[in-house]
Amino acid sequence: TELTPLKDIYEDYFLIGNAVSMAELEGQRLDLLRHHHNLVTAENAMKPEYAYNANREFDFSDQERLVNRIQEEGFELHGHVLVWHQQSPEWLHTEDGQLLSRDEALENMYTHIEETVLHYGDAVIAWEVVNEAMNDNPRDPEMWRAMLRRSDWFDAIGDDYLELAYLKTREVLDENGWEDVKLYYNDYNDDNQSKASAIYYMVKELNENYAEEHPGELLIDGIGMQGHYNSGTNVDFVRLSIERFRELGVEIGITELDITAANTGELTEEEEKNQAVLYAQLFSLYKEHADIISRVTFWGLNDATSWRAERNPLLFDRDLLAKEAYYAVANPE
Ligand code: XIL
Repeated sequence: TELTPLKDIYEDYFLIGNAVSMAELEGQRLDLLRHHHNLVTAENAMKPEYAYNANREFDFSDQERLVNRIQEEGFELHGHVLVWHQQSPEWLHTEDGQLLSRDEALENMYTHIEETVLHYGDAVIAWEVVNEAMNDNPRDPEMWRAMLRRSDWFDAIGDDYLELAYLKTREVLDENGWEDVKLYYNDYNDDNQSKASAIYYMVKELNENYAEEHPGELLIDGIGMQGHYNSGTNVDFVRLSIERFRELGVEIGITELDITAANTGELTEEEEKNQAVLYAQLFSLYKEHADIISRVTFWGLNDATSWRAERNPLLFDRDLLAKEAYYAVANPE
């Protein structure tokens, strides 16, 4: 019996996405991907690390192979990611272990953003411009600048690196008539209220600054809630974060959803049920906020190939068969 496609169930609410590599674009995996999803994110291929060859020159050939297949299959593409402290070449921010000067680091950041944004144009519907810039449990959320993660980007450039990254991305898009591409800020532990608050204050200030010169326009269009949850996640906190972000007038993307089971190894019946309950609670919450939630992307197709495979976090099992979690998402009430 054919499962009802999630993308049809949620057609009037939001896009349904998944994270992909080349392996998801053929055979049975492609069938499952196509059946349920209308959006994809490259799980790794579009990270800065994969945009250069050994001579530090731009080389998009691997990414292009993937993106061509994605386009042939007619999926929308969510861009992940321009500026991050991980999976990004060391030499973009350091040389021989020493931080670059502010000017050198800025030049590298701008060049990376410009080349990448020009390369993709409006083939992406959004860019996650900056990923994971906030500390995990900021003690003073209102002082968001002081709560930023001490990454090489932060240390080399300063606490304005985010704002400059968004301004640069916005400028390149505007100059080329790609105003429809949305700019996202993306982070995890989005259910942690002090982290959600710090992100709230950051987006508020950067958007207010921008609006002074561009009345009525946003610099940051959306907040990506990664949604890497676990069996202890309290959906009430996810709700509070969504309600907080709503006040900013931005859209929300659930960008990397998965929910790990309490234990590693085979799922027990109870674990599978608990996981399904959490998925159902989340999707009824998402439906309530569908006017601002643009997309919900799962971080992987099935448990066996998940980045957290040992805790079986996804909707389909190692044989690509639907788990309780699938039925919960298909029918959350
Ligand atoms: C993960 C991928 O799933 C893994 O394959 C890779 O080894 C490491 O990165 N937050 C992010 C994603 O923004 O890019 C990460 O993806 C998961 C956490």
